[in-house]
Amino acid sequence: MSEKPLLSVENLTVRFALNRGGLFGAASYLYAVDDVSFHVNRGETLAIVGESGSGKTTAALAAARLVSSHDGKVVLDGQDVLPLEGEDLRQMRRKVQFIFQDPYSSLNPRQRAEEIVREPLQSLTDTSAPEQQEITDRLFAEVGLRPEQKRLFPHQFSGGQRQRIGIARALATQPELIICDEPVSALDVAVQAQILNLLSALQKEFGLTYLFISHDLGVVQHMCDSVAVMYMGKIVEHADRKSLFNNPLHPYTAALLSAVPTVDKTLRQKTRRILIPGDPPDPTQKQTGCRFASRCPVAQDQCRQAEPPLKEIAPHHRVACHLVDEKAVSPL
Ligand SMILES: Nc1ncnc2c1ncn2[C@@H]1O[C@H](COP(=O)(O)OP(=O)(O)OP(=O)(O)O)[C@@H](O)[C@H]1O
Ligand code: SF4
Ligand SMILES: [Mg+2]
Repeated sequence: MSEKPLLSVENLTVRFALNRGGLFGAASYLYAVDDVSFHVNRGETLAIVGESGSGKTTAALAAARLVSSHDGKVVLDGQDVLPLEGEDLRQMRRKVQFIFQDPYSSLNPRQRAEEIVREPLQSLTDTSAPEQQEITDRLFAEVGLRPEQKRLFPHQFSGGQRQRIGIARALATQPELIICDEPVSALDVAVQAQILNLLSALQKEFGLTYLFISHDLGVVQHMCDSVAVMYMGKIVEHADRKSLFNNPLHPYTAALLSAVPTVDKTLRQKTRRILIPGDPPDPTQKQTGCRFASRCPVAQDQCRQAEPPLKEIAPHHRVACHLVDEKAVSPL
């Protein structure tokens, strides 16, 4: 595996207007992604994990130019992505494809399976019709669908099979990066394992790079090379897989990990369940101090006064917590 990042995201900020402001009032914004930086090495998988509303999807959409960024820089395959326009933007879109959570709502119910898989080839490549047919046929086999299923409509497939169609569609343009946004959350546990195995096999076969979004650390434990944990628009911890599962340092990561019954016990530092009370604060209200302070079991006065910066406390291990230093000891 190469150590060169395929995707690097620097200080990405995405905000949504809450009101337009007026003559006398300033516009106010929800910062869905707030000064976020990460990279994904070629051929590897970065998992982005966090609870609902933490900004996982928005960060991925912004990196893929499907949502506008307010600030920051995104470099894909050596190319500065945010300023791209016209044909350059189309070429970039060919290189990044999405697999969505709900394979039913993300597939056009009126298109046959083969039309769904062929669509990105038509809109993003200059391949001829016979080439498109050949590629579509090959992709059907790659994802484990039968040739006679090409003519069927989405409702004629099971959930797992529909996700296979979504995967074939994502592969059609031979992308470099696939953003898997909760690709198995809507599926039964047994089917989840099949789809995760398929994604792993395809990654090996085609040298794919994945940005894998999930609210569940259990799902990504066997899938990822590194993990970024997001909370209210910020990365609070980012580490290689082994460090994160062996030695979760941010109290939020430790709580997420302790809630996953399927996490390999040899990898899990703490088996004791850590409860985090309540919900995240209202994201439309400006926070002072650590965003996790209202729910953190070890919060102190300093936590409410200043926001902790995301610091590298060990090689490939960044944490944003006032109580974690270079000794890399969990404050819990
Ligand atoms: N188009 C939009 N307009 C306004 N606010 C938005 C928009 N899209 C997302 N948000 C807000 O941005 C924040 C982050 O949302 P996002 O969908 O990225 O979170 P997520 O981590 O993917 O959550 P989930 O696990 O539910 O998919 C949320 O507070 C959400 O309400
Ligand atoms: S900075 Fe303070 S409140 Fe925030 S996670 Fe660390 S200990 Fe908890
Ligand atoms: Mg999401």
